[in-house]
Amino acid sequence: MNEKVIPDIDERNQIVNELDKNMLVEAGAGSGKTTSIVNRMVSLVISGKCKVENMAAITFTRKAAQELKERFQNELERRYREEENTAIKSALKEALENMEKSFIGTIHSFCASLLRERPVEGGVDPDFEEMDELTDKLMHKQAWQQYLLDIRKDFPEKLAELNDIGIKPADMEEIFNLLTEYPDVEVVRSRIQKPDLMPVVKELKKLLYRARHYIPKTEPEKGYDSLQSKIMDSVRKLKPTQSILRGLSETPLTMEG
Ligand SMILES: Nc1ncnc2c1ncn2[C@@H]1O[C@H](COP(=O)(O)OP(=O)(O)OP(=O)(O)O)[C@@H](O)[C@H]1O
Ligand SMILES: [Mg+2]
Repeated sequence: MNEKVIPDIDERNQIVNELDKNMLVEAGAGSGKTTSIVNRMVSLVISGKCKVENMAAITFTRKAAQELKERFQNELERRYREEENTAIKSALKEALENMEKSFIGTIHSFCASLLRERPVEGGVDPDFEEMDELTDKLMHKQAWQQYLLDIRKDFPEKLAELNDIGIKPADMEEIFNLLTEYPDVEVVRSRIQKPDLMPVVKELKKLLYRARHYIPKTEPEKGYDSLQSKIMDSVRKLKPTQSILRGLSETPLTMEG
């Protein structure tokens, strides 16, 4: 790319040259983030402002960390080969020799390494191990199941309350997953009166009786579809049975169950 046509060339140069400033850079996919950060790291080495052993470069995924490590090393090697100034050349050589002492890795492993340095202050077991994604999922599931067992034992009335409104504990698992995935989101909820469902039930009943007439008397070759089956199931559950048999839409509107 010709530097003259890069509209943000000044900002790119700032990243590499203004080493005494903290920077927050937001940039899209493939725009040159890794290139810029690698160049800044090399600049830090060359200027003598930071030795690799005091450097931390953090990414989100392991794949990105691996790429960053490789590209940093390649760039150090390339600059070392091309450099003519002996002082800079030796700084680059030293960096290459000590590269393993730098931290280039994921945010997770960076945090883990901090905690491992000071487990007591962090309030964690010094022998703690980081969980991989699979173990995390498994523990998550176990925690949910244990919670259900505890509730069943200690607060059965809560389950009864759920049951009263027709919700099974299993139906709540998805909500649990969602809430635990975003622990920083505050859930807004309020306890409300159970709504009066009778008017809706009345309407539904009328609709069911009408819909019933459109269902084939004999089962179609491919079987009843799911809507047809639902309608027949629901009609069967309605009382009184006699009126259903008569197929009337103006049946007495009593409801059981
Ligand atoms: N200033 C530049 N001039 C020309 N090409 C560049 C420049 N900066 C980066 N590139 C090229 O653009 C491509 C993408 O760069 P890079 O990998 O640094 O982007 P990225 O933002 O890290 O991408 P990703 O979002 O995939 O992580 C690479 O081929 C790189 O060599
Ligand atoms: Mg990148």
